[in-house]
Amino acid sequence: MSLAQDYDLPDGPSMSPARMTWKFLRDRAGTVPAYHQEYGDTFSLRILPGPRTLVVFSDPADIKEIFAADPSQFHAGEGNAILKPVMGEHSVLLTDDAEHQRARKLLMPAFTGPSMRAYQPLVEAIAKIEVDSWHDGDTLVTLDRMNAITLDVILQVVFGVTDEERLSVLRPKVNRMVNIDAKMLLAWSYPRLFKLPPWRGYFKNQQEVDELLYAEIAERRAAHDLDGRDDVLSRLLRVGASEGETPLTDAEMRDQLVTLLLAGHETTASALSWTLHELGRDPEILARAVAAADTGDDAYLEACLKESMRLHPIIDFVARTLQSDQVVAGRLLPRGTTVTPSIMLSHSREASFADAHLFKPERFTAEKVAANTWIPFGGGVRRCIGAAFSLMEGTVVLREVLQRYEVTADAVAPNKLRNITNVPGDKAPLRLTMR
Ligand code: HEM
Repeated sequence: MSLAQDYDLPDGPSMSPARMTWKFLRDRAGTVPAYHQEYGDTFSLRILPGPRTLVVFSDPADIKEIFAADPSQFHAGEGNAILKPVMGEHSVLLTDDAEHQRARKLLMPAFTGPSMRAYQPLVEAIAKIEVDSWHDGDTLVTLDRMNAITLDVILQVVFGVTDEERLSVLRPKVNRMVNIDAKMLLAWSYPRLFKLPPWRGYFKNQQEVDELLYAEIAERRAAHDLDGRDDVLSRLLRVGASEGETPLTDAEMRDQLVTLLLAGHETTASALSWTLHELGRDPEILARAVAAADTGDDAYLEACLKESMRLHPIIDFVARTLQSDQVVAGRLLPRGTTVTPSIMLSHSREASFADAHLFKPERFTAEKVAANTWIPFGGGVRRCIGAAFSLMEGTVVLREVLQRYEVTADAVAPNKLRNITNVPGDKAPLRLTMR
């Protein structure tokens, strides 16, 4: 066993853990760059509950080491335990070790290249219906409209519900379920609160969503056309046997579906909103993107998305908690430390991205982006399962919008941290001009 003085925790700001936790939860965009400025690439933060130590990393070599480290000693799931009452104990986001491996193995085939191509036509149709409802001269409340698109994509492409009557029952309930604020997060830590209003209503709604999902799963298992269906749920139901694994049970399936919903809905909507906002602020880049939409140059549209995810990381850090003493980036850190690659700091390094404060999609077409510098989807065995899905979805939506409208943003959108997602605080209003 190591002695405490052997540990080599980096310096960091000295303030009470309560104050630091508050700042970390409320204003990372304001505080983390300032800590970086003062303490350099690696620094420590003391965070509640515990308090426990978070060591923040931003050098690409250190981040590479953390992503490649042994997942049995670098747990990601336990840090997300607060989400258990909603996502469920089997969620791929919350589990570690063998259970996590099994979930990844069963989920992955539904998120590979060929599956992406199969989903694309339905995503196009959903985006078209939304853009059809817009008018010349409208001011678009971009975040709300992108949320509407990405919610329908999850319901139709992931859950495979395309029947309009069922959709109209599911939409408001699922919307309520994903609309989680700090008050609801509190109840997740103290589940007994779910017996009291307003938490009781939220919990009841969640139970209703669960019932609908279980009914959908049962019906789909029995569907005679299961083999021919393209949605994610149907693919998951088909996958088990062919992977040589016991197929997912109904309870596991429910937990993974809710996880995909919560992980994939607002994240993609926010990425799209930031991208359209940046295009709306730069007529020259907008003109290139419009031309790309007209000529089917999806690579340029995808570069716009990637660059906006760099400049506005939707999730700004990922975390791994050490299960034993470990040497990380040359420092001996004690068991229980949470090592935290900072997506925000990685993306703003001048050494990795010259003029890092500027929106320049060409970085992702003309230049080679070095490994472990652009990490909006995290990395290693926990890298976002939906990365290719969200890029496909985002590219399709940008194409549908820009083929019909030019967009203008009159003001710079402020960043707002909503739970763990960074969104445009003013919902990124855009003026629409029909082309
Ligand atoms: C712009 C959109 C998105 C962003 C920025 C994003 C970002 C992330 C990040 C940072 C992680 C944690 C990775 C790590 O710990 O290394 C993650 C995990 C995850 N994401 Fe995404 N995500 C997006 C969209 C999606 C979509 C569309 C889906 C599914 C439909 C999805 C499903 C998941 C799942 C299941 C995990 C857990 C993976 C695991 O723990 O093994 N995400 N995502």
